[in-house]
Parts: sequence; C-alpha cells; structure tokens
Amino acid sequence: MIYLRIKTGTKGFDDVINGGLIPNRIYVLSGPPGSGKTTFGVQFLAYGASTGAPGLYVSLTRGAETTFENMSGYHINIPMLTRRNELFFKDVKSMPDYGDSDTSISPSTIYAKITDLVNRYSIKRLVIDSMSTMRFSIKDHTSKDMEIGRFIQNLSLLDCTTILISEMVDPSTYSTEQYACDGLIFLHNFMRGRSMTRAIQIIKMCGTAHDCEMRKLDFTENGLRVSDKIV
Ligand SMILES: Nc1ncnc2c1ncn2[C@@H]1O[C@H](COP(=O)(O)OP(=O)(O)O)[C@@H](O)[C@H]1O
Ligand SMILES: [Mg+2]
Repeated sequence: MIYLRIKTGTKGFDDVINGGLIPNRIYVLSGPPGSGKTTFGVQFLAYGASTGAPGLYVSLTRGAETTFENMSGYHINIPMLTRRNELFFKDVKSMPDYGDSDTSISPSTIYAKITDLVNRYSIKRLVIDSMSTMRFSIKDHTSKDMEIGRFIQNLSLLDCTTILISEMVDPSTYSTEQYACDGLIFLHNFMRGRSMTRAIQIIKMCGTAHDCEMRKLDFTENGLRVSDKIV
C-alpha cells in the first residue's frame, strides 16, 4: 500500500520516514524536559497551516499563550498564521483552579472541547501538550490506562493528524499512549563528551520502513533540524 504522506516541517526528518507522516493517524512524541517536544509540535502545525491545513495547539497546562510567545521568535511566521486563523493556540483545562467548583474535568470533557475546536476551525493538524498533564484529570487511579486508551480511540474518529506530547522520565517503561499510537518518536537530551546533545529517534512508525538510529537534532533560527546519525 502506498500512502500519501504529509511533511512534518522539520528539515531532515521527513526523509527518514519515507517522505512524511501518514495522515489522520495518531503519533506520540516523548522526551525529557527541554528536548524540543513543543517546538517540534508547533513546527508541525505551522508547516501544515502555511500549506492549507489549519492547525490547533492544545495546552492542558494553561500554557498556550506562553508557547505562542516562545515560538514567535522563529523564522516561521506564527503570528501571521494565527492572525489569518490558520493556526490556533488554545488552553483546555485539565485541573480545577483553587476555589474552583468545577470538578467535572476528565478526558471526556477535554475531548469534547477539542472536538468542538476541531470542527469549528476545520482543523487538520492537532497537537496536545501533554498526555502527562492529561493524567491529572483522571481521579480514579485504577482507570487511568483505560481512560487514556478511550481518549486515543476517540481521537482517531477526528479527521486530524495528531501529535500527542508525552513527558518521558524513564525510557524503559512505556505508557498507554505509547502502545496505542500509530507512531512513536523519542527526543533525547544527553551529555556527549562535555556538551549537551539533542537527538531524535523513531521507535515505531506503522506502515513505514525506518531505522531506529538516533539522529542529531539542532535548534536553528528556522526551528528544529535533523542531521546525521549519532555513532
Ligand atoms: N531559538 C532557540 N535557539 C536555541 N535553542 C532554543 C531556542 N529556543 C528554544 N531553545 C531551546 O529549546 C528548549 C525548549 O524546547 P521545548 O520545545 O520547549 O522543549 P520541551 O517541550 O521538550 O520541554 C529550551 O530549553 C532551549 O534550550
Ligand atoms: Mg514542552
């Protein structure tokens, strides 16, 4: 089967996944803090938005405005894309505030808000930041995995290519979203010699021939760029 692929917008990355992501599927991007997850996600949305596919960044930590500000320094013209209603940054509550009587927040209420935004703005590319925060909205510890599984199953009903961001503390234990998704990408942040190095690695990409090597990932003024394998 030959799939039409969509570009992620991260230079050097699409070449290692047969030209891009298979659309309308769910991908998980995992990595430690500062490894570039949010940047990768927003770049994916901005690329789509500038090529006719409206994008939505959902922050579950009330950080949509901050992400917008952080990302506006890059060469990609994010403020212009938001002004044109091609790219949206939205906060969706994952926890009640102090003194807030709204204790109804759950994966299903979060899903309902996301669905509403997706339909309202004809969203084609979606980023949810992050699944780790999403877990806070599940009060019953015994049903966390099931709730996350249901959320992902329902997301697949939306006509969107979705990146779920998930913080990764322990790369040796996998979480529900990492099992349930169609593709899993790891970002790494580690000491190499005396300097900090960033890397990207494809762990799983259904329908795609790929290797599992780590490749160098750099921040440039044009955003993230993937280069050579790290040997
Ligand atoms: N313009 C830039 N040039 C170089 N590095 C940058 C730039 N902007 C952000 N960074 C780096 O990106 C890191 C944050 O990336 P981010 O995508 O927010 O990571 P994550 O979402 O994985 O925590 C910062 O800690 C900083 O080191
Ligand atoms: Mg982040």
